Amino acid sequence: MKQKKLFSGLLALLMIVSLAACGGKDAPAPSSSTPETSAPAASDPPSSQPESNAPTVEVPTAPDIEGLDMAALDAEIKELAAKVKTVTDGKLTIGTSADFAPYEFHIMENGVDKIVGFDVALGQAIADELGVAFEVKDISFDSILMELNSGTIDLGLAGFSPTPERLEAVDMSLLYYTGGQSLMIKKSDEGKITGFADLGAGTSVGAQTGSIQADLAKEHTPEANLVALQTVPSIIMDLKTGKIDAAYIETVVAEGYLATQDDIMILCEVPFDSEGSSAAVKKGNEDLLNFVNAVITKVVANGTMAQLVEDANALSSQSIS
Ligand code: ARG
Repeated sequence: MKQKKLFSGLLALLMIVSLAACGGKDAPAPSSSTPETSAPAASDPPSSQPESNAPTVEVPTAPDIEGLDMAALDAEIKELAAKVKTVTDGKLTIGTSADFAPYEFHIMENGVDKIVGFDVALGQAIADELGVAFEVKDISFDSILMELNSGTIDLGLAGFSPTPERLEAVDMSLLYYTGGQSLMIKKSDEGKITGFADLGAGTSVGAQTGSIQADLAKEHTPEANLVALQTVPSIIMDLKTGKIDAAYIETVVAEGYLATQDDIMILCEVPFDSEGSSAAVKKGNEDLLNFVNAVITKVVANGTMAQLVEDANALSSQSIS
């Protein structure tokens, strides 16, 4: 029994690793040294930064959960919670862009429109630990960090990759999820589009406005026309109707679409060095950052986070976003 489990785990790992690279100079050589998994790699050394005189901002890593004393962590969470001040008293307000299943998306529940997803569930867990009410503000992805710094929301929880540029503008938490980036095409283009090289002048690619996927598009397919859209579902729609030739989409999000759409596919894996998702807090809000980091450490360590991801994945086919 145990062996069978181990074997299927290995098989799953192999399947993930075998997702083809998209080609181009930046594609990593196929090797088993850096398998993509959704479990944050706690032992990853912080990635070395290029030489520069700019002040070095610390790049978020996954929480260090080895030998963690859960009782001590709970006590710490209580202590840190006492220092947290929210934008509105008695309430934690998060900003998100609910177009991104399984992270955040709309479903209809008993005739009522509801925003769900593992970011939303994580936000709820943070509010619960803080002992306050919880509110989700659904705003456009590219305005979340501005709202954060202007003080209308407490947390940005929207599958944010902690890039060096964002780390200059806001503070970002430890990673609560690790995943990869994919290039999607129409199934009918399989064989015709085989990687970045086939997306040159005269082709067009889609990505969400203000996202790292838009940067990846500029980096890997600079000749292609970049169609930047506000929401991921509209990018998928453009791909399906042939308005664009390919789309840069977060892998777990892309996989969600595969469950319901049979005319599109993941072509290959897009290399990216700021892997993982972080919560964003207003620059300098150390009290909230420390508290959020402690809660993230707890939910990653006790398996809650993995469960929230699983629940969100199961719900994502009901997405009406
Ligand atoms: N991880 C990507 C980024 O940080 C995309 C996030 C998009 N999130 C969303 N809720 N639509 O740019």
